[in-house]
Amino acid sequence: MAKQKTPAWSEDGLTFRTRKWVRPEDLNANGSLFGGSLLKWIDEEAAIYAIVQLGNYRAVTKHISEINFEASAVQGDLIEIGLQATRFGTTSLTMRAVARNMITRRRILTIDKIVFVSLDDDGTPTPHGYREITYDRDRMPTERVATGTIRLPAL
Ligand SMILES: CC(C)(COP(=O)(O)OP(=O)(O)OC[C@H]1O[C@@H](n2cnc3c(N)ncnc32)[C@H](O)[C@@H]1OP(=O)(O)O)[C@@H](O)C(=O)NCCC(=O)NCCS
Repeated sequence: MAKQKTPAWSEDGLTFRTRKWVRPEDLNANGSLFGGSLLKWIDEEAAIYAIVQLGNYRAVTKHISEINFEASAVQGDLIEIGLQATRFGTTSLTMRAVARNMITRRRILTIDKIVFVSLDDDGTPTPHGYREITYDRDRMPTERVATGTIRLPAL
């Protein structure tokens, strides 16, 4: 049987789903990618990942560990962001993140720990009940967060 090839968007357990095109508004005064823009993209991607994994729209960033910027990017470069859940706590989910430059093929940064916490309606940490990564959409919330009332269509 032919050996299965690892897809280019996968690396050591990380799945690189998000891609960004570095635009003029993403640059710092030095003309390279502004770290704040990259962190905003990662935080948003991590929030969506946490919602999908924990089945709760009310998931908030609690902690981001040391960030190691290894390389940068310039206008027009293509960036991809990879995330992987590394620990399911009682109310929390810990992920690691990597961002890399698709043009130079260099890693831009790594973050060992991004912790999100699942909250209830009152903003109190609430147990999510999960222990493993899902690769399906089986935990998607069935109510819109804005109203909490509108039922979404079943999958
Ligand atoms: C999220 C929040 C409700 C948590 O409150 P808290 O009193 O710290 O809650 P707890 O002490 O019960 O901890 C909740 C979970 O976070 C984890 N946690 C708390 N502090 C942590 C830290 N510094 N690093 C890693 N994990 C941490 C705990 O271990 C716990 O996980 P577990 O249940 O899986 O064991 C509160 O800190 C908050 O509202 N923060 C603001 C969140 C926010 O708005 N983020 C967006 C930033 S603009």
